[in-house]
Amino acid sequence: MEYRILGNTGIQLSAIGLGCMGMNHAYGIPDDEASIATLEKSIELGINFWDTADMYAGGRNEALISKVLKPNRQKVFIATKFGFHNDASGKLCFDGSPAYMKKAVEASLKRLQTDVIDLYYAHRVDQSIPVEEMVGAMSDLVKEGKVRYLGLSEASVNSIKRAVAVHPITAIQSEYSILSREIEQDVLPLCESLGISLVAFSPLSRGLMTSTVDSDQLSENDFRKKLPRYQGAYAQNNQQLAEGFAQIAKAKQCSPAQLAIAWVLSKSPSIIPIPGTKRPKYLVENAGAVQIQLSADDFEQIETLIQTYPNIGDRYNDTFNQFVDKY
Ligand SMILES: NC(=O)c1ccc[n+]([C@@H]2O[C@H](COP(=O)([O-])OP(=O)(O)OC[C@H]3O[C@@H](n4cnc5c(N)ncnc54)[C@H](OP(=O)(O)O)[C@@H]3O)[C@@H](O)[C@H]2O)c1
Repeated sequence: MEYRILGNTGIQLSAIGLGCMGMNHAYGIPDDEASIATLEKSIELGINFWDTADMYAGGRNEALISKVLKPNRQKVFIATKFGFHNDASGKLCFDGSPAYMKKAVEASLKRLQTDVIDLYYAHRVDQSIPVEEMVGAMSDLVKEGKVRYLGLSEASVNSIKRAVAVHPITAIQSEYSILSREIEQDVLPLCESLGISLVAFSPLSRGLMTSTVDSDQLSENDFRKKLPRYQGAYAQNNQQLAEGFAQIAKAKQCSPAQLAIAWVLSKSPSIIPIPGTKRPKYLVENAGAVQIQLSADDFEQIETLIQTYPNIGDRYNDTFNQFVDKY
């Protein structure tokens, strides 16, 4: 494994982290035994940065990973997030208020079986209160010793600038992959200039870039089924795009997943991608991405491919777009 420095902390994290969400939330059928084996393998490989959130599987994701985290606490840098929850009618809501956060952090600490969270993110920027109020309350958690560093997920440039005036922000977690490049315009340059790590979520475009996802075969409760990219003409476009990408990877003698992660890694030393998997086999394969170098020709071939299949579709549907930071 190779290592990158987290923000301005001096802490060395594996250049590729481990996204734990799909272990029992959003994608496919949970397999706790395989997930535990994946977490253990991650420690063996030196992948020391795990990502979860309190909303994943209603807290059961944090509880699952605690089984391996607890006996290996000194070896793992643990990141979790707060804010999303379902109301009494089951509707997805976001709450970044100090009162909600205070309860959420206690619940996460308990489920993770730890006395401190290394990196605590607001899962979104709450659009109903000033960002200063949310980050101010988060900074109280640092003072109380419950969390070490603060992060924001999917924050806009404006929110990041306002947040850092209240407390240092160590990481911004945003979607970033060959198919999701919005942050290249402004968020990534801002992070680079402020010494903030950009933690890239869904670097495999939720599995699309691996060429192993058949949109028609996804189960009804698979989260991807709800997203435009996995439907109709978009799904067809993306299937062809993924097949083309797999050809480029084959010519480079690596897997599509490795090429997709290497592409993300190559974009900035400030980026730490967190590909998600519940399988040791994929984890080992993904770790191999640190060895892959992209040439100018590789980048060009990938751009040509995107131009050939431009009908990719939005990354979110309306339900999730409502939580995108509008500050
Ligand atoms: N902040 C946010 O709002 C937010 C949103 C989404 C995700 N995240 C975080 O980011 C992490 C990563 O994102 P993600 O899980 O959404 O998407 P991802 O990493 O782009 O893709 C995960 C999918 O790819 C599959 N996969 C992984 N490695 C593979 C390989 N080598 N070959 C074939 N398939 C492979 C996984 O399959 P298996 O599941 O079968 O292993 C899973 O279905 C999450 O786990 C979560 O911690 C954060």
